[in-house]
Amino acid sequence: MAIYIDEQKKLFTLSTNNTSYQMMADKYLVLNHLYYGENIGQEDMSYLLDYQDRGFSGNPYEAGNERDYSLDSRPQEYSTNGVGDYRINSVSVINADGSDAADWRYVGYTTSKGKYAIPGMPALYGEEKDADTLIVELADKVTGLHAFLYYSVWEERDIITRCVKFVNQGTDAIVLTKAASMNLDLMSGDWELMHFHGRHNLERQMERVPLMRGKMTVESVRGASSHQHNPFAILCSKDTTEEAGPCYGTALVYSGNFSIEAEKDQMGQTRLTAGINSQRFSWTLEAGAEFWTPEAVMTYSSEGFEKMSSNFHHTFREHLCRGKYKHERRPVLINNWEATYFDFDKEKILNIAKGASELGVEMLVLDDGWFGKREGDVSGLGDWYVNTDKLEGGLKPIADGINAMGMKFGLWFEPECISEDSDLYRAHPDWAIQIPGRQPNRSRYQLILDMGREDVRDHLYERMTAILDSANIEYVKWDMNRHISDVYSAVLPKERQGEASHRYMLGLYDLLERLVSRYPDLLLEGCSGGGGRFDLGMLYYSPQIWCSDDTDAVERLSVQYGTSFCYPISAVGSHVSAVPNHQTGRITPVETRGTVAMAGSFGYELDLNLLSDGEKEEVKEQIKTFKKYYNLTHEGEYYRLTNPMENRLYAAWEFVSQDQSEALVHGMQILAQPSGPSIHIPVRGLKADAMYEVNGELVRSGRALMHGGLNFPRQTGDFKAVEFYLKEVK
Ligand code: DGJ
Repeated sequence: MAIYIDEQKKLFTLSTNNTSYQMMADKYLVLNHLYYGENIGQEDMSYLLDYQDRGFSGNPYEAGNERDYSLDSRPQEYSTNGVGDYRINSVSVINADGSDAADWRYVGYTTSKGKYAIPGMPALYGEEKDADTLIVELADKVTGLHAFLYYSVWEERDIITRCVKFVNQGTDAIVLTKAASMNLDLMSGDWELMHFHGRHNLERQMERVPLMRGKMTVESVRGASSHQHNPFAILCSKDTTEEAGPCYGTALVYSGNFSIEAEKDQMGQTRLTAGINSQRFSWTLEAGAEFWTPEAVMTYSSEGFEKMSSNFHHTFREHLCRGKYKHERRPVLINNWEATYFDFDKEKILNIAKGASELGVEMLVLDDGWFGKREGDVSGLGDWYVNTDKLEGGLKPIADGINAMGMKFGLWFEPECISEDSDLYRAHPDWAIQIPGRQPNRSRYQLILDMGREDVRDHLYERMTAILDSANIEYVKWDMNRHISDVYSAVLPKERQGEASHRYMLGLYDLLERLVSRYPDLLLEGCSGGGGRFDLGMLYYSPQIWCSDDTDAVERLSVQYGTSFCYPISAVGSHVSAVPNHQTGRITPVETRGTVAMAGSFGYELDLNLLSDGEKEEVKEQIKTFKKYYNLTHEGEYYRLTNPMENRLYAAWEFVSQDQSEALVHGMQILAQPSGPSIHIPVRGLKADAMYEVNGELVRSGRALMHGGLNFPRQTGDFKAVEFYLKEVK
């Protein structure tokens, strides 16, 4: 067991190979957070609680004259509301008497082998050997609201997962208006917040800022985790680098409205919470009812960001992604979107597939436009019937034709959305989310279906399975091209409208689960106008997610860089597209586009027939290279060698095999510089004493290459790809 309990002291220590996490219920049964960091064995860290009387930080009634005991300064394991801690609350409520107090006191605990599951929601999974679980029960004695704090400790992976189950054990209804998945109080340290912001066409841009006195929040209220902020953040010290220094990574396994809040309090202590956004959230708990929060995943590294990322990458590949393609190499695909947009027919698609198959592409994905009256983005969404004007005979002939070329066939859906100009909308206008008496906000002309409704989900399930059963479809791209506004559910009473956003997510997860259970070998790729729902919740169903609608190789450097802090390479949908690039107009060589796309689930998004013979040869080579290095890139360790947010001249990243006998360094000379300085790129993760052959020529020790670096070639011309293959010489 990775969980140590001192019953007498009510002291709980969660222990992983390299980290310790500790909490203790004190004499007033308040659960104090004592420590999270480097492994300290099972030492009692309560000596760190060193408090004084502080004006305007009050004292719980039972503390009597003990004026140095204040919830306002104590590190809490799960912070209270309205009873004297003025910092970020983990929970807020409306009690039967209208008050908002939730005062947590320790009740008891249980432990078990293995990982807890969360009903109806995505979460990490594992066998008994992988994780141990501790459940600590807290209660508000006045109302009878109980909070069960769930912790699974992944000893080998330095990971702790958390969630909270609320149970109303009182007699009156209680309304939850905030329910964080986690709270982390750090008594000392001068922390910076790293987070990943963006917009459509430029997601997950890393920003690092010192915490200010006060609160800082990254969040989404868009009904999806969003392009604008990602449900993942890091606390690190100002000196933390890729290779050294402390950092705490926290990621939510959730795809809807979220908030991650950080506060540096009056004493310089830090609190971090993460969970469902309390804006647009309330949940009525009748007596006896329960509510589960989404899961939060935490890791601590004292060895900088690369160890933190490594902990996350391996854990998510092994314990979050599911299905046939969890480890199996995914087919190299070609997607017709940027090649044709809506303007295609069967011949055009078969022609694209044929050209691609001759170069080694393994699957064609038919994107938007194959159904209903979908000539553009104004109409047709919701009518999941094949448009036989475009695709004569339906999907079977095209799928068969593509299969006959030795390729798989995949299909795009946008199940959650609906066009007003559709038969579905004409039949069921009430299925679209809109507030009675108001005109809804349109986005890309479309509305969104209320996924919280069972009839909506049943309809979508029936339509999608009918399509998927009509032909040999081995892949589905699940898109979602707008954010939710005008939140309202026609099936909820007015006092429960605050539940609509989370019920939408539960409904979405329910439909996804039904589909992946029925088609366990189907490869799902998540998408939301690119990477607008790039999160661990979606990764549970779709092991790859389209990273960004921005396919420009230079832009992708910072998008993929930011994404890599939390998400493994295998999660990143990345394609070679045409030039001039459709988003930026930039022209980059096909080699460079291939090199960048190989740091992901690789594919093409253009008509390869239009390439020159030389470019076609290059594509053939690229596909061979991708397959040759697949194990290295997808199962190895990933290292960010440069920071493209700062370095606009060149970029490099590296993959190292688990046994450290091989490494692949990829990079780009972004801008050429005449008479520029020499550039040495120290590589990482090699065995210091082993000798490595670099590109079959130079032989140097791992030590030399890690400290002296590789000579980054200076070339004339911008956007030039760079590749080094390092192999241990035995
Ligand atoms: C947005 C996606 O990100 C694109 O790849 C494409 O599938 C379009 N939607 C289709 O409408």
